Amino acid sequence: MSERLEDIAVAMVANGRGLLAADESTATIKKRFDSIGLESTENSRRDYREMLLRSDDAMREYISGVILYEETLFQKAADGTPLADVIRNAGSIPGIKVDTGAKPMAHFPNETITEGLDGLAARLARYHEAGARFAKWRGVIAISDALPTWGAIRANAHALARYAALCQEAKIVPIVEPEVLMDGAPGDHSIERSEEVTEWVLRTVFEELGELRVRLEGMILKPNMVIDGKKARNASVDEVAERTIKVLKRTVPAAVPGIAFLSGGQSTEEATAHLSAMNAAHDLPWKLTFSYGRALQQEALNAWGGKSENVAAGQRAFAHRAKMCSLAAKGSWTKDFEKAA
Ligand code: 13P
Repeated sequence: MSERLEDIAVAMVANGRGLLAADESTATIKKRFDSIGLESTENSRRDYREMLLRSDDAMREYISGVILYEETLFQKAADGTPLADVIRNAGSIPGIKVDTGAKPMAHFPNETITEGLDGLAARLARYHEAGARFAKWRGVIAISDALPTWGAIRANAHALARYAALCQEAKIVPIVEPEVLMDGAPGDHSIERSEEVTEWVLRTVFEELGELRVRLEGMILKPNMVIDGKKARNASVDEVAERTIKVLKRTVPAAVPGIAFLSGGQSTEEATAHLSAMNAAHDLPWKLTFSYGRALQQEALNAWGGKSENVAAGQRAFAHRAKMCSLAAKGSWTKDFEKAA
């Protein structure tokens, strides 16, 4: 496989494949495991992620890359194979979340700034050696009547650009993820407000990327969809798709090879339907695919339930959702495919 950033970025979004976001922090995966009554230990985290990564056919056909948490990148499967090799052996690319989390931003109540730039160049070199060929950094933007502020948008966009430049120097493709929350507090904003804020954020992010000389051909954008807050949800699938495309066309240069959405708390089927609607109705300058965490994993986590006898059931559930998301990335998903499962 080519080591050129441009080629890696194109491979990450090609042929109806997309990304599996399995990079939950230790605190977040504990919450997911709590929901199935499973204790989060180094081994249970490994067993769960190994189950997903060993879904060989699904990985090969539908998953171009996997975003890992640092612990997983250096972890070995039960038989001693490094998990990064399990991913590569399935024809997929290992990636790594490199930010160290969104922290309260000084002087900006209820807003966050994402940390992790100090020492990042050295960490990226280690991750590259361990097999990672792309990375992820998530900036978080909260919506309320008074938020976001310009200060928080600009600080987060600047951090994303600094991270992206460091990645490219380390021969790692940056996934640039500015997430405008749909389920933050109060979470009752309209879709018009989501559109306005998402456009403002993306415009700022691309200005900062330009200032810091980030090569657009060698990156992937991971945005939220334009969608009303979780507590106010009533926009139709078509409205979400149309408003999202409108904002992306206004803000994302055609030089970017691909856009891989986060699911952000949408149900598995909502996230699938929205992506398919966008691809079905538009001829676009970039590939549009998925980089889902919850929307790819929820059914597999439930089917597995933390029990070794359910590994095959968990893998079946994962393969089904990955196939649905892949159909959506080609714009050919319909509800009928869900029933056929
Ligand atoms: P969700 O799809 O669950 O939002 O996770 C994607 C992700 O990587 C968030 O940073």
